[in-house]
Amino acid sequence: MPKLTLNKAVFPVAGLGTRFLPATKAQPKEMLPVVDKPLIQYAVEEAYSAGIRHMIFVTGRNKRAIEDHFDTAYELENELEMAEKHALLALVRSVQPDDMNFAFVRQPRSLGLGHAVLCAEHLVGNEPFAVLLADDLMVGPASGPSVLAQMAAQFEQLQQSILAVQEVPLEQTRRYGIVAGQDVGPGLMKVQKIVEKPAPELAPSRMGVAGRYLLTPAIFKHIRSQTAGVGGELQLTDGISSLLAEETVYALQYQGKRYDCGSKEGFLEATVELALQHPEVGQQFRRYLSGLKLD
Ligand code: G1P
Repeated sequence: MPKLTLNKAVFPVAGLGTRFLPATKAQPKEMLPVVDKPLIQYAVEEAYSAGIRHMIFVTGRNKRAIEDHFDTAYELENELEMAEKHALLALVRSVQPDDMNFAFVRQPRSLGLGHAVLCAEHLVGNEPFAVLLADDLMVGPASGPSVLAQMAAQFEQLQQSILAVQEVPLEQTRRYGIVAGQDVGPGLMKVQKIVEKPAPELAPSRMGVAGRYLLTPAIFKHIRSQTAGVGGELQLTDGISSLLAEETVYALQYQGKRYDCGSKEGFLEATVELALQHPEVGQQFRRYLSGLKLD
């Protein structure tokens, strides 16, 4: 069989972002900046670093800013050019490298992550693809590969679906898809069971799925065969659970750190830690923080 290669990434971005109201009343939560880059750009850059060039956004109403962000900004670019602000011009243009392309499809109603992925089916076709939840800001190890690049490297060998996982506190299992399985290598597990947001006493393990998935196209029919799950929504996790009957699914304990930018605490943690590493403001910010009197 010819080797499967990963070319496409799906970004479900139709969610309302109610946890960030009023900031998200008139702008997409994915456009909230961590230091100087919107969340969605971190996710797109991560996909690019894994060799992916086709970016598919599953959007909704009030999400136009995302399309504009990845489009040419004629007036801005023109003004920067006239003013000979070359560094800024290069920065603006770097958001959309020449070899990256974009497609947008709408998810007309909030029917869940599984439904969002189905909305992209006709654009993905019969190919393996990545799913990235931009709320989860993933930072790879210092000068190491990004989380999705780590998964893509495994995919080269395994040629099967792979989920990014991390150990989560027992009292937080209700926030995650939880997997259990058999260890088959360092940080690598063959998934035997996956459950969406179980109560701690029902969780099969403490391995929680982070918002990064590499999936084979067989997932589509398995999502379609599901009925509404947790929260009355069509869950990607339930589709993956059904996929287990047909294909092997792996879980990779990634190297790096996840910031849950869907929550205020996670968003603040990401902002502080990424600001400390930022080449322009990092040093000064470190001095400022160390001068704060915290009790
Ligand atoms: C989604 C998934 C869940 C996964 C989580 C990772 O939940 O349904 O399985 O563990 O993302 O962030 P959400 O956070 O959208 O409720």
